[in-house]
Amino acid sequence: MDRKRIITTEFTTEDAAVETGLRPLSLDDYIGQKKVKDNLKVYIEAAKARKEPLDHCLFYGPPGLGKTTIAGIIANEMGVHLKVTSGPAIEKPGDMAAVLNSLQDGDLLFVDEIHRLNRQVEEVLYPAMEDYAIDIMIGKGTTARSIRLDLPKFTLVGATTRAGLLTAPLRDRFGVVSKMEYYTVDELKTIILRSAKVLHVEIDEEGAYELARRSRGTPRLANRLLKRVRDFAQVKYDGVITKEVAVFALNLLDVDRLGLDKNDRLILSTMMDRFKGGPVGLEAVAASIGEDAGTLEEVYEPYLILNGLILRTPRGRVVSDLAYDHLGIPRPEKDI
Ligand code: ADE
Repeated sequence: MDRKRIITTEFTTEDAAVETGLRPLSLDDYIGQKKVKDNLKVYIEAAKARKEPLDHCLFYGPPGLGKTTIAGIIANEMGVHLKVTSGPAIEKPGDMAAVLNSLQDGDLLFVDEIHRLNRQVEEVLYPAMEDYAIDIMIGKGTTARSIRLDLPKFTLVGATTRAGLLTAPLRDRFGVVSKMEYYTVDELKTIILRSAKVLHVEIDEEGAYELARRSRGTPRLANRLLKRVRDFAQVKYDGVITKEVAVFALNLLDVDRLGLDKNDRLILSTMMDRFKGGPVGLEAVAASIGEDAGTLEEVYEPYLILNGLILRTPRGRVVSDLAYDHLGIPRPEKDI
């Protein structure tokens, strides 16, 4: 039988930095998420002083805001190994038992998309998180009994874009639960300038600002766009990313002035065209664009709400005047 890869990656955090290139390795180098960072600093210092592993941590929020990066930083700051896996990679309770059993004392196990663990797999985690033990069933029927296997003390770091799908028993077993917020334009600009240095790309302040403004509050996108704009700067200009280069390249890449992507614009235009701009229920919008309502609510909508393009009212979602102006679509006549 083929051995499945349950541990997606197993690396020292230095390797991770080389692999991804742009990820900071210490909390001091990590830009933004001030509240999360300040609290983590205290928890890490306290755990290290007690010579104990850090309590289990859950990070939730839209994609690309640095949940994986934070896990790497925690491992680095605690001086422990990092093992990375994900909810969909662990299909059976035995898979989870094998992963847990492979850990060494103090290790950090990062489970991305933790909401996608199935219920039986999740149940293996409960005693593992609480008592550092797993219960294994031996035998069948009336002779079945369970034996307890001790595990090394470890830290589970879970990440999810869909906090709403996490079961209460799992959520309640995390000692630290942190919400990741979108980054401000200033924070993204600082990240872009730092990344440009790492990549040896020349960029001026205005170029960095333009990129930051269009990065949808998301460092992953900022770094991706930086790499793409660098290509345009190299081939079409003299290698330096200025505002002109950024605007030219980002327009070609279909990233608009607010950083909205095709999905964002589809959500807004669907609400305008099919529902006269609202009020409309989340489910109806989701069905119209062929997306699941929970994903719409937790992954796409937060950025549109943050920017005042969608408003939540007691009667449903409404697109704002700003959204009509942004898409250049005339507002509908208001019923009197
Ligand atoms: N690269 C990606 N995310 C980052 C962050 N939050 N701080 C610094 N560099 C980053």
